[in-house]
Amino acid sequence: MQKLIIEGEKRLYGEALVQGAKNSALPLLAACLLCEGETLLHNCPKLSDVYAACRILGCLGCECRAQGNDITVRADAPCGCCVPDDLMREMRSSIVFLGAVLGRTGECSLSFPGGCELGPRPIDMHLAALRRMGAEITERHGVLRCTCPTGLKGTGIILPFPSVGATENIILAAALAEGTTVIKNAAREPEIADLCCFLRACGARIIGEGSDTVVIEGVGSLQGCEYTVMPDRIVAATLMSAAAITGGEVSLIGARSSDLDAVIPVFEEMGCRIYTCPDRLFITRKLPLSSVRTVRTMPYPGFPTDAQALVTAVLAKAKGTSIIVENIFENRFRHVDELVRMGARIKAEGKVAVIDGVPKLYGAKVRASDLRGGAALAVAALAAEGVTEIGNVGFIDRGYEALERQLSSLGASASRECKI
Ligand code: EPZ
Repeated sequence: MQKLIIEGEKRLYGEALVQGAKNSALPLLAACLLCEGETLLHNCPKLSDVYAACRILGCLGCECRAQGNDITVRADAPCGCCVPDDLMREMRSSIVFLGAVLGRTGECSLSFPGGCELGPRPIDMHLAALRRMGAEITERHGVLRCTCPTGLKGTGIILPFPSVGATENIILAAALAEGTTVIKNAAREPEIADLCCFLRACGARIIGEGSDTVVIEGVGSLQGCEYTVMPDRIVAATLMSAAAITGGEVSLIGARSSDLDAVIPVFEEMGCRIYTCPDRLFITRKLPLSSVRTVRTMPYPGFPTDAQALVTAVLAKAKGTSIIVENIFENRFRHVDELVRMGARIKAEGKVAVIDGVPKLYGAKVRASDLRGGAALAVAALAAEGVTEIGNVGFIDRGYEALERQLSSLGASASRECKI
Protein backbone atom coordinates (compact mmCIF):
# COMPACT_ATOMS: atom_id res chain seq x y z
CA MET A 1 0.00 0.00 0.00
CA GLN A 2 1.38 3.43 -0.86
CA LYS A 3 1.39 6.38 1.50
CA LEU A 4 2.34 10.03 1.42
CA ILE A 5 4.89 11.20 3.95
CA ILE A 6 4.76 14.93 4.73
CA GLU A 7 6.94 16.79 7.20
CA GLY A 8 5.08 19.98 8.07
CA GLU A 9 5.75 23.61 9.01
CA LYS A 10 7.38 24.67 5.74
CA ARG A 11 6.02 27.72 3.95
CA LEU A 12 5.25 27.12 0.28
CA TYR A 13 6.73 29.44 -2.30
CA GLY A 14 6.92 29.37 -6.09
CA GLU A 15 4.90 28.61 -9.19
CA ALA A 16 2.70 25.62 -9.90
CA LEU A 17 1.04 24.62 -13.17
CA VAL A 18 -2.61 23.72 -12.62
CA GLN A 19 -3.45 20.37 -14.30
CA GLY A 20 -6.35 19.78 -16.67
CA ALA A 21 -9.73 19.22 -15.04
CA LYS A 22 -10.57 15.58 -14.23
CA ASN A 23 -14.29 16.42 -14.12
CA SER A 24 -14.11 17.81 -17.64
CA ALA A 25 -11.76 15.24 -19.18
CA LEU A 26 -14.10 12.37 -18.19
CA PRO A 27 -17.26 13.62 -19.97
CA LEU A 28 -15.11 14.80 -22.90
CA LEU A 29 -13.72 11.27 -23.28
CA ALA A 30 -17.28 9.91 -23.21
CA ALA A 31 -18.24 12.50 -25.85
CA CYS A 32 -15.52 11.13 -28.18
CA LEU A 33 -17.80 8.11 -28.61
CA LEU A 34 -20.25 10.30 -30.52
CA CYS A 35 -17.64 11.51 -33.00
CA GLU A 36 -16.53 10.07 -36.32
CA GLY A 37 -12.85 10.37 -37.14
CA GLU A 38 -10.13 11.23 -34.69
CA THR A 39 -10.32 13.40 -31.56
CA LEU A 40 -7.18 14.79 -29.93
CA LEU A 41 -7.60 16.05 -26.36
CA HIS A 42 -4.79 18.18 -24.89
CA ASN A 43 -4.20 18.91 -21.19
CA CYS A 44 -5.73 15.63 -20.01
CA PRO A 45 -4.58 14.99 -16.44
CA LYS A 46 -2.56 11.78 -15.90
CA LEU A 47 -4.98 10.20 -13.42
CA SER A 48 -6.27 6.72 -12.68
CA ASP A 49 -9.85 7.83 -13.43
CA VAL A 50 -8.83 9.15 -16.85
CA TYR A 51 -7.09 5.88 -17.73
CA ALA A 52 -10.16 3.98 -16.50
CA ALA A 53 -12.26 6.03 -18.94
CA CYS A 54 -9.82 5.13 -21.74
CA ARG A 55 -10.23 1.45 -20.86
CA ILE A 56 -14.01 1.82 -21.12
CA LEU A 57 -13.60 3.45 -24.56
CA GLY A 58 -11.31 0.59 -25.58
CA CYS A 59 -13.84 -2.01 -24.51
CA LEU A 60 -16.49 -0.18 -26.54
CA GLY A 61 -14.38 -0.62 -29.68
CA CYS A 62 -12.56 2.71 -29.75
CA GLU A 63 -8.85 3.19 -30.31
CA CYS A 64 -7.47 5.17 -27.41
CA ARG A 65 -3.86 6.40 -27.14
CA ALA A 66 -2.48 8.41 -24.21
CA GLN A 67 0.80 10.28 -24.72
CA GLY A 68 1.73 12.54 -21.81
CA ASN A 69 -1.25 14.86 -21.36
CA ASP A 70 -2.58 14.20 -24.88
CA ILE A 71 -5.20 11.54 -25.54
CA THR A 72 -6.21 10.52 -29.04
CA VAL A 73 -9.50 8.67 -29.61
CA ARG A 74 -10.81 7.09 -32.79
CA ALA A 75 -14.42 5.90 -32.53
CA ASP A 76 -14.97 4.82 -36.16
CA ALA A 77 -15.14 1.10 -35.46
CA PRO A 78 -18.59 -0.24 -34.64
CA CYS A 79 -19.16 0.96 -31.13
CA GLY A 80 -19.96 -1.72 -28.57
CA CYS A 81 -22.73 -1.00 -26.10
CA CYS A 82 -21.79 -3.03 -23.03
CA VAL A 83 -19.56 -1.67 -20.28
CA PRO A 84 -18.36 -4.53 -18.07
CA ASP A 85 -19.01 -4.39 -14.35
CA ASP A 86 -15.35 -4.22 -13.29
CA LEU A 87 -14.77 -1.13 -15.41
CA MET A 88 -17.98 0.52 -14.19
CA ARG A 89 -16.87 -0.06 -10.62
CA GLU A 90 -13.49 1.53 -11.17
CA MET A 91 -15.01 4.98 -10.97
CA ARG A 92 -18.41 6.32 -10.08
CA SER A 93 -18.50 8.84 -12.89
CA SER A 94 -18.51 6.07 -15.51
CA ILE A 95 -22.29 6.59 -15.58
CA VAL A 96 -21.57 9.51 -17.94
CA PHE A 97 -20.91 6.89 -20.66
CA LEU A 98 -24.61 5.95 -20.60
CA GLY A 99 -25.77 8.99 -22.54
CA ALA A 100 -22.93 8.75 -25.03
CA VAL A 101 -23.35 5.01 -25.74
CA LEU A 102 -27.11 5.45 -26.13
CA GLY A 103 -26.55 8.43 -28.38
CA ARG A 104 -24.14 6.52 -30.59
CA THR A 105 -25.63 3.01 -30.68
CA GLY A 106 -29.21 3.27 -29.47
CA GLU A 107 -28.62 0.68 -26.75
CA CYS A 108 -26.49 0.25 -23.67
CA SER A 109 -25.89 -2.27 -20.93
CA LEU A 110 -23.91 -1.30 -17.85
CA SER A 111 -23.90 -1.97 -14.13
CA PHE A 112 -25.03 0.56 -11.57
CA PRO A 113 -22.04 2.61 -10.49
CA GLY A 114 -23.50 2.36 -6.99
CA GLY A 115 -22.62 4.51 -4.04
CA CYS A 116 -19.18 5.70 -3.19
CA GLU A 117 -17.28 7.21 -0.30
CA LEU A 118 -19.57 10.26 -0.35
CA GLY A 119 -22.71 8.31 0.30
CA PRO A 120 -25.40 6.85 -1.97
CA ARG A 121 -24.99 8.17 -5.49
CA PRO A 122 -28.44 7.68 -7.04
CA ILE A 123 -28.91 8.08 -10.80
CA ASP A 124 -32.71 8.48 -10.80
CA MET A 125 -32.49 11.86 -12.55
CA HIS A 126 -30.26 10.43 -15.28
CA LEU A 127 -32.69 7.56 -15.95
CA ALA A 128 -35.86 9.66 -15.77
CA ALA A 129 -34.45 12.09 -18.34
CA LEU A 130 -33.30 9.35 -20.74
CA ARG A 131 -36.70 7.64 -20.46
CA ARG A 132 -38.33 10.95 -21.44
CA MET A 133 -36.08 10.90 -24.52
CA GLY A 134 -37.46 7.49 -25.49
CA ALA A 135 -35.03 5.09 -23.82
CA GLU A 136 -36.54 1.90 -22.40
CA ILE A 137 -34.50 1.10 -19.29
CA THR A 138 -34.74 -1.98 -17.08
CA GLU A 139 -32.80 -2.26 -13.84
CA ARG A 140 -32.24 -5.83 -12.64
CA HIS A 141 -29.65 -7.11 -10.15
CA GLY A 142 -27.62 -3.93 -10.45
CA VAL A 143 -27.48 -4.00 -14.26
CA LEU A 144 -29.10 -1.36 -16.46
CA ARG A 145 -30.30 -2.48 -19.87
CA CYS A 146 -31.25 0.40 -22.13
CA THR A 147 -32.69 0.35 -25.63
CA CYS A 148 -34.23 3.03 -27.84
CA PRO A 149 -36.21 1.12 -30.47
CA THR A 150 -37.15 4.30 -32.30
CA GLY A 151 -34.00 6.24 -31.45
CA LEU A 152 -33.61 9.02 -28.89
CA LYS A 153 -35.96 11.97 -29.37
CA GLY A 154 -35.43 15.54 -28.27
CA THR A 155 -37.82 16.71 -25.55
CA GLY A 156 -38.23 19.11 -22.62
CA ILE A 157 -36.57 18.00 -19.36
CA ILE A 158 -36.81 19.72 -15.98
CA LEU A 159 -34.19 18.45 -13.52
CA PRO A 160 -35.40 18.35 -9.88
CA PHE A 161 -31.83 19.23 -8.87
CA PRO A 162 -29.05 20.74 -11.04
CA SER A 163 -27.16 17.44 -11.18
CA VAL A 164 -23.82 17.75 -12.98
CA GLY A 165 -23.76 14.15 -14.18
CA ALA A 166 -27.39 14.11 -15.24
CA THR A 167 -26.94 17.36 -17.20
CA GLU A 168 -23.89 15.87 -18.94
CA ASN A 169 -25.68 12.62 -19.75
CA ILE A 170 -28.65 14.45 -21.26
CA ILE A 171 -26.39 16.67 -23.39
CA LEU A 172 -24.48 13.61 -24.64
CA ALA A 173 -27.69 11.73 -25.43
CA ALA A 174 -29.30 14.77 -27.10
CA ALA A 175 -26.38 15.75 -29.38
CA LEU A 176 -27.32 13.16 -32.05
CA ALA A 177 -31.00 12.74 -31.09
CA GLU A 178 -33.83 13.60 -33.45
CA GLY A 179 -35.22 17.04 -32.61
CA THR A 180 -34.45 19.55 -29.88
CA THR A 181 -33.91 18.96 -26.19
CA VAL A 182 -34.39 21.72 -23.62
CA ILE A 183 -32.90 21.11 -20.17
CA LYS A 184 -34.35 23.31 -17.42
CA ASN A 185 -32.64 23.61 -14.03
CA ALA A 186 -29.45 22.38 -15.72
CA ALA A 187 -26.19 22.34 -13.78
CA ARG A 188 -24.08 25.43 -14.50
CA GLU A 189 -20.61 24.11 -13.62
CA PRO A 190 -17.72 25.23 -15.89
CA GLU A 191 -17.13 21.57 -16.81
CA ILE A 192 -20.58 21.55 -18.48
CA ALA A 193 -19.55 24.56 -20.55
CA ASP A 194 -16.30 22.79 -21.50
CA LEU A 195 -18.30 19.78 -22.70
CA CYS A 196 -20.63 22.00 -24.76
CA CYS A 197 -17.71 23.93 -26.30
CA PHE A 198 -16.08 20.63 -27.29
CA LEU A 199 -19.30 19.24 -28.78
CA ARG A 200 -19.90 22.49 -30.71
CA ALA A 201 -16.35 22.22 -32.10
CA CYS A 202 -17.39 18.75 -33.32
CA GLY A 203 -20.48 20.16 -35.04
CA ALA A 204 -23.13 19.99 -32.31
CA ARG A 205 -25.79 22.67 -31.97
CA ILE A 206 -25.93 23.70 -28.30
CA ILE A 207 -26.69 27.00 -26.56
CA GLY A 208 -27.23 28.13 -22.97
CA GLU A 209 -24.41 26.30 -21.18
CA GLY A 210 -23.50 28.06 -17.93
CA SER A 211 -27.15 29.07 -17.48
CA ASP A 212 -29.91 26.94 -16.01
CA THR A 213 -31.42 26.29 -19.46
CA VAL A 214 -29.43 24.38 -22.09
CA VAL A 215 -30.87 23.81 -25.57
CA ILE A 216 -29.47 21.03 -27.76
CA GLU A 217 -30.63 20.63 -31.36
CA GLY A 218 -29.76 17.12 -32.51
CA VAL A 219 -27.56 16.82 -35.61
CA GLY A 220 -26.89 13.92 -37.98
CA SER A 221 -23.26 13.34 -37.09
CA LEU A 222 -20.28 14.78 -35.23
CA GLN A 223 -16.65 14.97 -36.38
CA GLY A 224 -13.76 14.51 -34.00
CA CYS A 225 -11.62 17.60 -33.38
CA GLU A 226 -8.59 18.89 -31.44
CA TYR A 227 -9.49 20.38 -28.07
CA THR A 228 -7.80 21.49 -24.84
CA VAL A 229 -9.33 20.49 -21.51
CA MET A 230 -10.03 23.38 -19.10
CA PRO A 231 -7.86 23.78 -15.98
CA ASP A 232 -8.93 22.02 -12.80
CA ARG A 233 -10.55 24.56 -10.49
CA ILE A 234 -10.51 22.17 -7.52
CA VAL A 235 -6.80 21.44 -7.90
CA ALA A 236 -6.35 25.24 -7.95
CA ALA A 237 -8.37 25.48 -4.72
CA THR A 238 -6.21 22.71 -3.26
CA LEU A 239 -2.98 24.59 -3.98
CA MET A 240 -4.57 27.79 -2.64
CA SER A 241 -5.30 25.88 0.57
CA ALA A 242 -1.68 24.71 0.74
CA ALA A 243 -0.41 28.28 0.40
CA ALA A 244 -2.96 29.61 2.89
CA ILE A 245 -2.29 27.09 5.65
CA THR A 246 1.52 27.41 5.40
CA GLY A 247 1.53 31.22 5.09
CA GLY A 248 3.32 30.97 1.76
CA GLU A 249 3.25 32.76 -1.59
CA VAL A 250 2.19 30.72 -4.62
CA SER A 251 1.46 31.58 -8.23
CA LEU A 252 -0.95 29.19 -9.97
CA ILE A 253 -0.27 29.13 -13.68
CA GLY A 254 -3.30 28.24 -15.81
CA ALA A 255 -5.79 28.79 -12.97
CA ARG A 256 -8.97 30.28 -14.43
CA SER A 257 -9.93 32.80 -11.75
CA SER A 258 -13.44 33.16 -13.24
CA ASP A 259 -14.12 29.56 -12.13
CA LEU A 260 -13.20 30.48 -8.54
CA ASP A 261 -15.54 33.42 -7.91
CA ALA A 262 -17.15 31.71 -4.89
CA VAL A 263 -13.85 30.37 -3.54
CA ILE A 264 -11.65 33.48 -3.60
CA PRO A 265 -13.72 35.53 -1.08
CA VAL A 266 -13.49 32.69 1.46
CA PHE A 267 -9.69 32.70 1.26
CA GLU A 268 -9.63 36.50 1.52
CA GLU A 269 -11.82 36.28 4.63
CA MET A 270 -9.28 33.80 6.06
CA GLY A 271 -6.59 36.48 5.70
CA CYS A 272 -5.13 35.76 2.24
CA ARG A 273 -4.38 38.32 -0.46
CA ILE A 274 -5.27 37.13 -3.96
CA TYR A 275 -4.36 38.74 -7.28
CA THR A 276 -5.78 37.35 -10.50
CA CYS A 277 -5.54 37.63 -14.26
CA PRO A 278 -7.51 35.42 -16.70
CA ASP A 279 -5.12 32.47 -16.58
CA ARG A 280 -3.09 32.98 -13.43
CA LEU A 281 -3.80 33.42 -9.71
CA PHE A 282 -1.34 34.67 -7.09
CA ILE A 283 -2.08 33.97 -3.40
CA THR A 284 -0.18 35.07 -0.32
CA ARG A 285 -0.97 34.96 3.40
CA LYS A 286 0.94 37.21 5.74
CA LEU A 287 -1.84 37.93 8.25
CA PRO A 288 -2.79 35.32 10.89
CA LEU A 289 -5.34 32.78 9.59
CA SER A 290 -8.81 33.78 10.78
CA SER A 291 -12.10 31.95 10.90
CA VAL A 292 -14.88 32.68 8.40
CA ARG A 293 -18.61 33.10 8.64
CA THR A 294 -20.61 30.11 7.51
CA VAL A 295 -19.47 28.41 4.29
CA ARG A 296 -22.36 26.66 2.55
CA THR A 297 -21.65 24.29 -0.37
CA MET A 298 -24.03 24.89 -3.26
CA PRO A 299 -24.38 24.04 -6.94
CA TYR A 300 -22.28 26.31 -9.17
CA PRO A 301 -21.85 29.29 -9.02
CA GLY A 302 -22.07 28.66 -5.26
CA PHE A 303 -19.18 27.40 -3.14
CA PRO A 304 -18.11 24.01 -4.61
CA THR A 305 -18.62 20.90 -2.48
CA ASP A 306 -15.30 19.58 -3.84
CA ALA A 307 -13.44 22.41 -2.08
CA GLN A 308 -15.21 21.88 1.25
CA ALA A 309 -12.71 19.43 2.75
CA LEU A 310 -9.79 21.61 1.66
CA VAL A 311 -11.15 24.72 3.34
CA THR A 312 -12.07 22.69 6.43
CA ALA A 313 -8.40 21.71 6.74
CA VAL A 314 -7.24 25.32 6.55
CA LEU A 315 -9.89 26.54 9.00
CA ALA A 316 -8.75 23.87 11.48
CA LYS A 317 -5.77 26.15 12.11
CA ALA A 318 -7.60 29.50 11.86
CA LYS A 319 -8.20 31.67 14.92
CA GLY A 320 -11.87 31.50 15.91
CA THR A 321 -14.85 29.32 15.12
CA SER A 322 -16.06 28.56 11.56
CA ILE A 323 -19.12 26.69 10.35
CA ILE A 324 -19.35 24.57 7.21
CA VAL A 325 -22.69 23.38 5.81
CA GLU A 326 -22.41 20.55 3.26
CA ASN A 327 -25.58 20.75 1.17
CA ILE A 328 -24.64 18.50 -1.75
CA PHE A 329 -23.51 15.11 -0.42
CA GLU A 330 -24.69 13.17 2.61
CA ASN A 331 -21.39 11.84 3.79
CA ARG A 332 -18.69 14.34 2.98
CA PHE A 333 -17.11 14.91 6.41
CA ARG A 334 -15.14 11.68 6.65
CA HIS A 335 -11.89 13.68 6.70
CA VAL A 336 -12.96 15.29 10.00
CA ASP A 337 -12.08 12.29 12.18
CA GLU A 338 -8.63 12.14 10.61
CA LEU A 339 -8.09 15.89 11.09
CA VAL A 340 -9.09 15.45 14.75
CA ARG A 341 -6.34 12.83 15.05
CA MET A 342 -3.97 15.63 13.98
CA GLY A 343 -5.21 17.84 16.82
CA ALA A 344 -8.03 19.66 15.05
CA ARG A 345 -11.08 20.61 17.09
CA ILE A 346 -14.03 19.89 14.75
CA LYS A 347 -17.51 18.60 15.44
CA ALA A 348 -19.42 17.28 12.43
CA GLU A 349 -23.03 16.25 12.67
CA GLY A 350 -25.29 15.68 9.64
CA LYS A 351 -24.72 18.52 7.19
CA VAL A 352 -22.87 20.80 9.60
CA ALA A 353 -19.29 20.92 10.83
CA VAL A 354 -18.25 23.37 13.57
CA ILE A 355 -14.53 24.13 13.47
CA ASP A 356 -12.78 25.63 16.52
CA GLY A 357 -9.40 26.67 15.17
CA VAL A 358 -6.34 25.47 17.10
CA PRO A 359 -2.87 27.09 17.20
CA LYS A 360 -1.16 23.84 16.30
CA LEU A 361 -1.75 20.64 14.35
CA TYR A 362 0.43 17.57 14.88
CA GLY A 363 1.71 14.98 12.44
CA ALA A 364 -0.09 11.63 12.71
CA LYS A 365 -0.84 8.42 10.83
CA VAL A 366 -4.07 9.10 8.94
CA ARG A 367 -5.96 7.56 6.04
CA ALA A 368 -7.73 9.06 3.07
CA SER A 369 -11.33 7.92 2.70
CA ASP A 370 -12.17 9.84 -0.45
CA LEU A 371 -10.46 11.97 -3.06
CA ARG A 372 -10.87 15.50 -1.69
CA GLY A 373 -10.78 14.36 1.94
CA GLY A 374 -7.39 12.80 1.23
CA ALA A 375 -6.13 16.04 -0.31
CA ALA A 376 -7.39 17.88 2.78
CA LEU A 377 -5.22 15.65 4.99
CA ALA A 378 -2.20 16.57 2.86
CA VAL A 379 -3.06 20.27 3.25
CA ALA A 380 -3.30 19.90 7.04
CA ALA A 381 -0.04 17.91 7.12
CA LEU A 382 1.80 20.79 5.45
CA ALA A 383 1.21 22.94 8.56
CA ALA A 384 1.42 20.20 11.19
CA GLU A 385 4.35 19.86 13.58
CA GLY A 386 6.25 16.69 12.74
CA VAL A 387 5.59 13.99 10.16
CA THR A 388 2.21 12.88 8.82
CA GLU A 389 1.70 9.57 7.01
CA ILE A 390 -1.35 9.46 4.73
CA GLY A 391 -2.57 5.97 3.74
CA ASN A 392 -4.98 5.03 0.91
CA VAL A 393 -3.15 7.36 -1.47
CA GLY A 394 -5.06 5.74 -4.33
CA PHE A 395 -8.00 7.99 -3.52
CA ILE A 396 -5.78 11.06 -3.94
CA ASP A 397 -4.28 9.72 -7.18
CA ARG A 398 -7.77 9.65 -8.71
CA GLY A 399 -7.76 13.45 -8.83
CA TYR A 400 -4.19 14.71 -8.48
CA GLU A 401 -1.18 14.12 -10.72
CA ALA A 402 1.56 13.15 -8.20
CA LEU A 403 0.43 15.59 -5.49
CA GLU A 404 3.62 14.98 -3.49
CA ARG A 405 5.75 16.13 -6.42
CA GLN A 406 3.72 19.28 -6.93
CA LEU A 407 3.91 20.17 -3.22
CA SER A 408 7.65 19.41 -3.10
CA SER A 409 8.21 21.74 -6.07
CA LEU A 410 6.77 24.49 -3.87
CA GLY A 411 9.13 23.73 -1.00
CA ALA A 412 7.16 21.16 0.98
CA SER A 413 8.84 18.06 2.36
CA ALA A 414 6.54 15.52 0.73
CA SER A 415 7.32 12.06 -0.61
CA ARG A 416 5.61 8.80 -1.48
CA GLU A 417 6.47 5.54 0.21
CA CYS A 418 5.63 2.41 -1.74
CA LYS A 419 5.58 -0.65 0.47
CA ILE A 420 5.74 -3.85 -1.55
C1 EPZ B 1 -19.96 15.63 -10.10
O1 EPZ B 1 -20.49 14.46 -9.49
C2 EPZ B 1 -18.47 15.60 -9.81
N1 EPZ B 1 -17.87 14.42 -10.39
C3 EPZ B 1 -18.22 15.59 -8.30
O2 EPZ B 1 -16.81 15.66 -8.09
C4 EPZ B 1 -18.87 16.85 -7.71
O3 EPZ B 1 -18.71 16.81 -6.30
C5 EPZ B 1 -20.36 16.88 -8.07
O4 EPZ B 1 -20.52 16.82 -9.50
C6 EPZ B 1 -21.04 18.14 -7.58
O5 EPZ B 1 -20.40 19.25 -8.11
C7 EPZ B 1 -17.58 14.42 -11.72
O6 EPZ B 1 -17.84 15.37 -12.42
C8 EPZ B 1 -16.91 13.19 -12.27
P1 EPZ B 1 -24.33 15.46 -9.02
P2 EPZ B 1 -22.02 14.00 -9.82
O7 EPZ B 1 -25.05 14.57 -9.96
O8 EPZ B 1 -22.33 14.29 -11.22
C9 EPZ B 1 -27.73 13.80 -6.13
C10 EPZ B 1 -14.75 15.02 -7.18
O9 EPZ B 1 -14.31 15.02 -6.03
N2 EPZ B 1 -28.26 13.10 -7.31
O10 EPZ B 1 -24.34 16.94 -9.27
O11 EPZ B 1 -22.20 12.64 -9.31
C11 EPZ B 1 -26.40 13.20 -5.67
O12 EPZ B 1 -26.64 12.10 -4.82
C12 EPZ B 1 -16.16 14.55 -7.45
O13 EPZ B 1 -14.11 15.41 -8.19
C13 EPZ B 1 -29.46 12.41 -7.20
O14 EPZ B 1 -30.08 12.37 -6.15
O15 EPZ B 1 -22.81 15.02 -8.87
C14 EPZ B 1 -25.76 14.34 -4.93
O16 EPZ B 1 -26.27 14.39 -3.61
C15 EPZ B 1 -16.87 14.08 -6.19
N3 EPZ B 1 -29.93 11.75 -8.30
C16 EPZ B 1 -26.24 15.57 -5.70
O17 EPZ B 1 -27.38 15.15 -6.46
C17 EPZ B 1 -29.27 11.76 -9.50
O18 EPZ B 1 -29.77 11.15 -10.48
C18 EPZ B 1 -25.20 16.14 -6.65
O19 EPZ B 1 -24.87 15.13 -7.54
C19 EPZ B 1 -28.05 12.47 -9.59
C20 EPZ B 1 -27.56 13.14 -8.49
